Amino acid sequence: MTNSSSQSVLVIGTGGTIAGLKSQSDGGGYLAGQVSISTLLAEVDTKLSIKNKQLCNIDSCDLTQGLLSKIGQEVIDSLHDPQFLGIVITHGTDTMEETGIFLELVLGNLSRKLGKKVVLTGAMLPSDDPNADGPSNLTQAINLAADRHGGGGVWLAMAGKVMPAGLVSKVHTSRLDAFESDESLCLKVSEDLPIPPEDAWPWVEIVMSHSGARDDILRQMIHLGVDGIVLAGTGGGTVHADLAKALEQYAAKGGALLRSSRIGRGTIPNQLANGRIPNSVGAGPLNPAKARIALQLAINASRHRTAKSLTWQEIFARIAFLPNSG
Ligand code: SIN
Repeated sequence: MTNSSSQSVLVIGTGGTIAGLKSQSDGGGYLAGQVSISTLLAEVDTKLSIKNKQLCNIDSCDLTQGLLSKIGQEVIDSLHDPQFLGIVITHGTDTMEETGIFLELVLGNLSRKLGKKVVLTGAMLPSDDPNADGPSNLTQAINLAADRHGGGGVWLAMAGKVMPAGLVSKVHTSRLDAFESDESLCLKVSEDLPIPPEDAWPWVEIVMSHSGARDDILRQMIHLGVDGIVLAGTGGGTVHADLAKALEQYAAKGGALLRSSRIGRGTIPNQLANGRIPNSVGAGPLNPAKARIALQLAINASRHRTAKSLTWQEIFARIAFLPNSG
């Protein structure tokens, strides 16, 4: 058993605004993913032992499925490594919620079992901005990852707030305090889901319902053999009649169809009051981007044929959104 005083926090750098530079941009903006994680850590005032690893240095709008698989495997290996107290991942804020739900679903149970926290953080201002929020966010995340009280779990720490990473959403384009989560819920999965192979994630698209919706592109998508569709529905997950017909045919033939809301707040039930797309599954509180990751993982898990094989619907049903008693 390793003594906690000899243990380190591992900080995995993946890029984002936290590693961004204004000085690298000619257009008055900035470029994300320019500064190494070791340079960013030089700004952090801590007595804790820190190790770091640069996994990539990208603008998170360019995040790939292959990279998600790599991040997930790296975090699992590091959770098992006794030298680490906990793990921080610096990440662009634009797709942090997708990485958050991914990590929760593939290793949330493992982190709780080992009592080690996995903490995502980022920044809304680039590293060379005079008011850069990166150093304080990174310090907050490192302190949280080092804290063994309260067990493990996958968290997002930014702007002084700590939120469950699986339920968090970016709700503002520029505010430093850009994330919110539904505090009335916690997310539990009975078993961690397998990480898809880097080059073999199920192909899942998001289709948005809106006034004047047309089904042409949706039908083309189905024709091309998409593995699953997430509906970003209106209001409580409702869908335009012109899209509903194509979606009903798709689901009736066994297509995987998850229904979320473009509002991104509140919960989507399994049945719509108007009876449209009866074979779809409600995404609960997951917004379309997070529902897409959850559906990909559920389809991937359903392809692991074992004696206990489950359908994607049965796997998705194991993702429970429970009232938060804490
Ligand atoms: C990104 O997501 O990489 C850029 C935006 C940000 O980090 O806030």
